[in-house]
Amino acid sequence: LNILILNGPNLNRLGQREPDVYGSNTLTDLEKGLKTFGNQHGVTIESKQSNWEGQIIDWLHEAEKKADGIVINPGAFTHYSYAIRDAVASIDIPVIEVHISNVHAREDFRKTSVIAPVCKGQISGFGFSGYEMAIDYFLRRHKS
Ligand code: DQA
Repeated sequence: LNILILNGPNLNRLGQREPDVYGSNTLTDLEKGLKTFGNQHGVTIESKQSNWEGQIIDWLHEAEKKADGIVINPGAFTHYSYAIRDAVASIDIPVIEVHISNVHAREDFRKTSVIAPVCKGQISGFGFSGYEMAIDYFLRRHKS
């Protein structure tokens, strides 16, 4: 099972960025933790991060040939990027949207995701564990 983890804008600043909201662990901590989780469960994990909408779109397109599933945290693009939404809709592999914080408990603009409707589902508010929960779904789907 090959899973691609995509983190969007400002997630390279995890650890320094609003630690009261996103915690004090870094993107490197997140990516290392997911690699270990993958190793423990026989899943190959590739992680990428970009602040650029077009780069995320290119990676989504390319993943169709390489990955069995994608876990994406689109950051603020979640709330307004129709281009990322269309990219997710254009590929034939399942995508799960993850948010570290509970977007439904914050500002109103965060309650809308233009991407979630074309995803398998959304996981929000469970910190870094949300990514593992998404990988766990792909594992269960693969086994059944
Ligand atoms: C986020 C929530 C978004 O609203 C925000 O713009 C982010 C991070 C999260 O993981 O909680 O950059 O996606």
